[in-house]
Amino acid sequence: TVANFKGVKQGRLRLAAVTTTKYFVPRLLGPFCQRYPGIDVEFQVTNHEGLVARLSENLDDLYILSQLPEHLDISYHAFLENPLVVLAPIDHPLAHEKNIPLKRLVDEPFIMREPGSGTRSSVQKLFDEQGISVRVRLELGSNEAIKQAIIGGLGISVLSRHTLGLEGTSDKLTILDVEGFPIRRQWYAIYPAGKQLSVVAQTFFEYLLEEVKRITAGINSDAVESEKKSG
Ligand code: PGA
Repeated sequence: TVANFKGVKQGRLRLAAVTTTKYFVPRLLGPFCQRYPGIDVEFQVTNHEGLVARLSENLDDLYILSQLPEHLDISYHAFLENPLVVLAPIDHPLAHEKNIPLKRLVDEPFIMREPGSGTRSSVQKLFDEQGISVRVRLELGSNEAIKQAIIGGLGISVLSRHTLGLEGTSDKLTILDVEGFPIRRQWYAIYPAGKQLSVVAQTFFEYLLEEVKRITAGINSDAVESEKKSG
């Protein structure tokens, strides 16, 4: 296994990922770099469109995104859920309502990611399918800026639940229970089909899958543990 070669691996990992991954990928990189001190990392963060452009130019070893590119031949591996949720300020009038009809959102000022964003295209697809047209008060190219704008009372938005951190909670923002949400998506690690991954890239790929499995199993077994204690 990878651990048997500890310390021997050397080189540069070129990783590119869409914006929302910054809420968990850097945290995984820390232990990885400690385990493999010979590996240096270049981590490019961009939106979906930018990532697909990098992929088609073969600029990086591995790519992490949520929407598989349609016209490129790729190998992919799903490794984690990436639900998109409706975020509102904690004191929003709809905060405690259940099963809010989707069309209710047309009355709310809406904050939207920029064109080229995968988050935006998923949201737009749902709205188009349901014949909904929201009033976009503000268009912003940053998840973090959108969160701050929601807290500031500018409107509501749809973002990955991971923008609330892996814990998925916040004391200033709340997730509205809207019909059709969460939009269920996955995180994929992908690379061009037929490309021979470098040893370094292969090592990170295996590490990523193992770590995510370990973290999610940990969350589940903690739940079992506390059930046992309370039972
Ligand atoms: P984005 O990608 O940064 O382009 O919105 C995130 C996603 O597709 O989930």
